Amino acid sequence: MGIPMLAMVIIWYLGGAMVIEEQLTIGLIITYTATLNLMVPSLIRIIEFASSIPNELTALMRVKELCDLSLIRSEHDSSVNAERHSEQSPSFEAMILADMSFSYHENSPLFSNLDLTFNKGRAHLINGGNGAGKSTLLTILSGELQPLSGHIKLDATDLNGLPNRSQSISMVPQKIHIISDSIRNNVTFGMDVDQDKILKALHHVGLGKWVEHLDQGIDHIIKDARSELSGGQIQKLGLARAILRDTPILLMDEPTNNLDSEAVKRLINIIQAQKQSKIVVIVSHDDRLFDAVDRVVYLENDSFRNATRVTETPSEEG
Ligand SMILES: Nc1ncnc2c1ncn2[C@@H]1O[C@H](COP(=O)(O)OP(=O)(O)O)[C@@H](O)[C@H]1O
Ligand SMILES: [Mg+2]
Repeated sequence: MGIPMLAMVIIWYLGGAMVIEEQLTIGLIITYTATLNLMVPSLIRIIEFASSIPNELTALMRVKELCDLSLIRSEHDSSVNAERHSEQSPSFEAMILADMSFSYHENSPLFSNLDLTFNKGRAHLINGGNGAGKSTLLTILSGELQPLSGHIKLDATDLNGLPNRSQSISMVPQKIHIISDSIRNNVTFGMDVDQDKILKALHHVGLGKWVEHLDQGIDHIIKDARSELSGGQIQKLGLARAILRDTPILLMDEPTNNLDSEAVKRLINIIQAQKQSKIVVIVSHDDRLFDAVDRVVYLENDSFRNATRVTETPSEEG
């Protein structure tokens, strides 16, 4: 609102002076003002776009870093692991966090000598207040953040020693990134998957009817996710992406954000089905998920000086 007003003041101030000096007529000023009114919405969009560039660049750099990292790893491991790559993605019985410590800042530990085990066949909920370290713990489990000390093992294999981590771990982040591309490419992310499987996953998460009503179906191009999709639809696309990847470990950060009660019921069914063959770890402060899980790990942190306290509350199912 400030920019159009400012432009108007400048035009009338300069224009007024030029009218007095008979260099300009009132009619011309009115024409300029009308033209400016037409241009303002476009100008605002350009300014908004320019201001979002630093954020987009940061995200792009992060993606490039991860791509480079996985490229280096795969080059390094390719000869050693050629046989293992041809196998199906492995299955793990447990993810074990042993004596793990982590901090973002010196002298303020977030986790100190933490021991936790996440078994296959159970849904594990990490619960707790804002800033307790839930997302950080999940990111450590995904292998994207390195602990200061201790280790994370998948059965006997060190998480860092996995030949291709992304084949074993799927993460549904809190903020799901949608690319300007088709629904198909947004859920497959370059994987070669049958159309039937994609449709099944979309139905599974509750996006089936929406996709059926689109002229291009799963080939519908999402131009601008923020204006075209609801928060719930974005969340469901992220979930469909993880279901399609079908890895032995499934991590979700606040998956009920933006979901209505119907969608939460659907998510609970998905969790129940996924945990049969996977290690499922969910971070959430949403009480609606308590009944869906077999175990609750509670994180509590009320001071920057002390590490997060970790306690367990077994649910009624045990
Ligand atoms: N990238 C970061 N750099 C520094 N501090 C961070 C970073 N991410 C999170 N923190 C801090 O670590 C603590 C735990 O954050 P987080 O794991 O996001 O908690 P939660 O998910 O439980 O809300 C908070 O105090 C937060 O401010
Ligand atoms: Mg969080």
